[in-house]
Amino acid sequence: MRKITVVGAGNVGATAAQRLAEKELARKVVLIDVADGIPQGKGLDQWESAAIEGFDTRVTGATDFSAAEGSELFIVTAGIARKPGMSRDDLLRTNADIVRSVSGEIARVAPDSIIVMVSNPLDAMSWVAMDASGFPKERVIGMAGVLDTARYRSFIALELDCSVEDIQALVLGGHGDTMVPLVSYTTVSGIPLTQLMSQDRIDALVDRTRKGGAEIVGYLKTGSAYYAPSSAAVQMAEAIAKDKKRILPCSAWLEGEYGEHGIFLGVPCKLGARGLEQILEVELTEKEREELARSAEAVRSTIDSLR
Ligand code: LAC
Repeated sequence: MRKITVVGAGNVGATAAQRLAEKELARKVVLIDVADGIPQGKGLDQWESAAIEGFDTRVTGATDFSAAEGSELFIVTAGIARKPGMSRDDLLRTNADIVRSVSGEIARVAPDSIIVMVSNPLDAMSWVAMDASGFPKERVIGMAGVLDTARYRSFIALELDCSVEDIQALVLGGHGDTMVPLVSYTTVSGIPLTQLMSQDRIDALVDRTRKGGAEIVGYLKTGSAYYAPSSAAVQMAEAIAKDKKRILPCSAWLEGEYGEHGIFLGVPCKLGARGLEQILEVELTEKEREELARSAEAVRSTIDSLR
């Protein structure tokens, strides 16, 4: 790509910019933030690492959206992060206002771009971005499942003492406590997880995955996770920038898939140059279907409160 813009130069945004640059996913990476000096300073600092890391992606920072003009892809991380004791939904009002304004700016300076939403509460903010930008569903995709799946895979690898690369998994649903890790689709190099681990241990890892974000907030106290979240957003950006057609769990606008209408929810998606190119519908067990419906209900009430 020619230009990717990261909105929000906090921990998630700045780390995402650095990862985009190191992978040379675009000729230019622009970091935008309202706090004058922060995006410029972080952008310059990152570019000064280029000679050592060996990348030619020019990283710059700005406070004005005109710097983002012509970007093909946006990673939106703007908003406040969780503090201990706060749920993702506690961020709702504040971040909805921020994301609404940012999405309007994106539509103005780059009307054909693709938005990867990262701000929380994720599924609701994806809806705000689609509503405020007027973009079609193909061009607004939420980052949640890649992160939740990565956490789940990392816990399984620790427990089995095996390579995390060999673990395939799918986590569906909203990015919250109601997310649905699909045990029936979790394999280790194709071997069903249920053949390698007791149900008790699987249940414990599923529970840890659901609370994975809060576990990090509990340690950091002044903010939330950013290394894994930025990796997840950049993996989605890479699939789009390189037209890889990767199948990744993402929050997508549903119009009947999985029996849901008019909400963003985590489902398996094909990501390529056009953004969201396909939603894959997989068979679910009765229990998984119920859990997904419950998760959808939680997301729907959040979105409804913003309408
Ligand atoms: C997390 C927050 C960022 O899951 O939603 O870490």
